[in-house]
Amino acid sequence: MVKVTVCGAAGGIGQPLSLLLKLNPKIDELALFDVVNVPGVGADLSHICSNSTTSSHLPSAKEDKTALADSLKNSDLVIIPAGVPRKPGMTRDDLFNINASIVQGLAQGIAETCPDAFVLIISNPVNSTVPIVAETLKKNNVFNPKKLFGVTTLDIVRANTFISQLFPKESKPTDFNINVIGGHSGETIVPLYSLGNSKQYLDKLSEEQQKELIHRVQFGGDEVVQAKNGAGSATLSMAYAGYKLAESILKALDTPNVVECTFLNLDSSIKGASEAKKLVGNLDFFSLPVKLGKSGIEEVQYEILDKISDNEKKLLEVAVDQLSKNIEKGVSFVKK
Ligand code: APR
Repeated sequence: MVKVTVCGAAGGIGQPLSLLLKLNPKIDELALFDVVNVPGVGADLSHICSNSTTSSHLPSAKEDKTALADSLKNSDLVIIPAGVPRKPGMTRDDLFNINASIVQGLAQGIAETCPDAFVLIISNPVNSTVPIVAETLKKNNVFNPKKLFGVTTLDIVRANTFISQLFPKESKPTDFNINVIGGHSGETIVPLYSLGNSKQYLDKLSEEQQKELIHRVQFGGDEVVQAKNGAGSATLSMAYAGYKLAESILKALDTPNVVECTFLNLDSSIKGASEAKKLVGNLDFFSLPVKLGKSGIEEVQYEILDKISDNEKKLLEVAVDQLSKNIEKGVSFVKK
């Protein structure tokens, strides 16, 4: 029996993500939690004739904790796209404080109800919300670094698509699986085009074109925000990316050695994490390719860091500097 819970299931990301999960035959029970509109989303999805049952959970009042606990009970995998998008007049700090509290509250629920579950964080800013979840689980003495994932898969999805768009006759987005390391915002995102089959295409680009391509991956989210003209940020592509990581984790329960890039805690209990940490300025959290198994992250593929180009090394330095501040912000939010 595999149970998956989506927290924030009625939102722009939550709804398409829940639909994709509903279609996955490995899932037996899909639980949807939100603070608004979730009964309607649940009723709608429940008519789909797939493998899983659907339940929806809406708190009856602000202080009602039973709906969250019911949604999380016996869950194997919890995905969190809950939060608020930035509204006019709101600063980034305002957004951080709101989403940080939401994520902290949900992490507390996980600690109390399903501490052994895999936890995937989508709520932004991921560079800070993942440390918030880690600290909250630590406070409750239930933290397992092998099972906490910050979803950075959208950066990989964009990296694959954007290089292919520059070579439409010679390639398709599905030809690529670019490693994207670092964090999940702006210059903390470091696409490694110099490795693997993308190198032959990268070499055909001028220095200026290479810069533009990397910048497009780092700030790809802005294209969607602008095109949506005030109506929000990436939802469909983000839902796809979140689903892709969830699918790999579910696959690894039966077939180990699935490799995915994810933002993880570089805890010394994970094979290769201490080595990785030394190569990324001693940061506690970083996105790198990892090998997945039935217990979660089995190994960090840190060796990739020895193979990156000089230009990527420079990008990495900038990323490390920014990331350390983002991580500290998340950690101190819980410790304050
Ligand atoms: N518990 C559960 N769900 C919550 C909570 C909470 N405490 N607070 C808010 N939500 C729900 C909202 O009710 C809404 O349905 O989270 C959902 C968020 O959906 P949207 O507002 O449509 O936002 P979305 O575009 O999906 O983005 C969500 O992901 O990429 C990030 O920056 C983005 O942090 C934001 C999050």
